[in-house]
Amino acid sequence: MSTIQLHNGMAMPTLGLGTFRLSPDDCERAVATALECGYRLVDTANVYMNERAVARGIAASGVPREQVVVQTKLWPTCYRRADAAAAIDATLRRLDTDYVDVLLLHQPAGRYLEAWDAMQEAVGAGKVRTLGLSNFDARQLHDVMTHADVQPAVMQLECHPYRQLESAQWLLEGNGIALQAWYPLGHGDARLLADPTIVRIAGHHGRTPAQVVLRWHVQSHRIAVPGSHDPAHIRENLAIGDFELDEYEMDDLARLDRDRAYFRMPGPLRRVAFTMGRPDFDAQP
Ligand SMILES: NC(=O)c1ccc[n+]([C@@H]2O[C@H](COP(=O)([O-])OP(=O)(O)OC[C@H]3O[C@@H](n4cnc5c(N)ncnc54)[C@H](OP(=O)(O)O)[C@@H]3O)[C@@H](O)[C@H]2O)c1
Repeated sequence: MSTIQLHNGMAMPTLGLGTFRLSPDDCERAVATALECGYRLVDTANVYMNERAVARGIAASGVPREQVVVQTKLWPTCYRRADAAAAIDATLRRLDTDYVDVLLLHQPAGRYLEAWDAMQEAVGAGKVRTLGLSNFDARQLHDVMTHADVQPAVMQLECHPYRQLESAQWLLEGNGIALQAWYPLGHGDARLLADPTIVRIAGHHGRTPAQVVLRWHVQSHRIAVPGSHDPAHIRENLAIGDFELDEYEMDDLARLDRDRAYFRMPGPLRRVAFTMGRPDFDAQP
C-alpha cells in the first residue's frame, strides 16, 4: 500500500474504503473485507450513520486498531464550540476508539471556526491525530488557515476524470495539504467507466476501467476513497500497485476533464446542512 506523507509526518494510505450510503450491515462487511485484503484507510462521517458499523468491521477484521487510519467528519449542526467538543467524544464512543486518525469538517457551513478550535483542542488531548476539511473553497480554506494553530493536512473534494481540479490541487499542495478524492469513480457512473479512453487504456493493461481510474488518482498524487459494498470490487480496487500508466496515457486521461460535478447541493449549503434539524447520530445500530 503506497502512502502520502502528510505535513505532520503521518503516512496516509493513497487508497481507502469509502462508506457513504452503506447500510450498517453492508458497511460492517465491507470494512472487514477491505481490511482483510489490505486496505488501511476507512472514511466515514457522523452523518453516514455507520460509525458503529465501521468499528464492528475493524474488530471483525482482526487488524490491530493502530494499523488502521480511521477518518471521520463532523456535521455542521455540531460546529458550535461546546457542541463540537461533545460531538468528537461521541464519535470516539461510536467508533469504539480512544482516537481518530483524521477528523474533517464535512461542510463549510455554520460556525466552522468554532469547530476548528474544538478539533485543535482534541489534537492536544490526543483524541485526534490529523485535521482536515471537506468541500471548502479557496476563500474558506484561507479563513481556516489564518485562524488555525493546527493547520489542515487533508482536503476532501469531489474529484474524478470528469472533474480533475488541477488548480485546486495546485493550491492545496502549495499549502502542504493533500487532496483526497471523493466520488473517485464518478459515484459509479456507468458512462464514466465506459468512457472509450478509459476502456482503451484498461484493455492495454489488461485491467478494469475502475482500476485505471484509481491508478490515475494515485499517480496524480491524490488519495482516493472508492466506496463499494461488493467484495469483488473492494479487492479489485486495491489491486492497482503492479501496473503504471505512462505519460501519454496520463495526458489522454487529463483531456477527459470537463469540470463536471455529479453532486449538486439542492439549494444553498447553509439551508441544506441545517434542514435536517439536529440528527441524532447515536441512533444507529
Ligand atoms: N466529503 C463529502 O462530502 C463526500 C461526499 C460523498 C462521498 N464521500 C466519500 O467518498 C466515498 C466514495 O464515494 P462513492 O462511494 O459515493 O462514489 P465512488 O467511489 O466514486 O463510486 C462508488 C460506486 O462505484 C461502484 N464501484 C466501486 N468499485 C467498482 C468497480 N471496481 N467496478 C465497478 N463499479 C464499482 C460502487 O458499486 P458497488 O457497491 O456495487 O461496488 C458504487 O456504486 C464515499 O463512500 C465517502 O466515503 C465524501
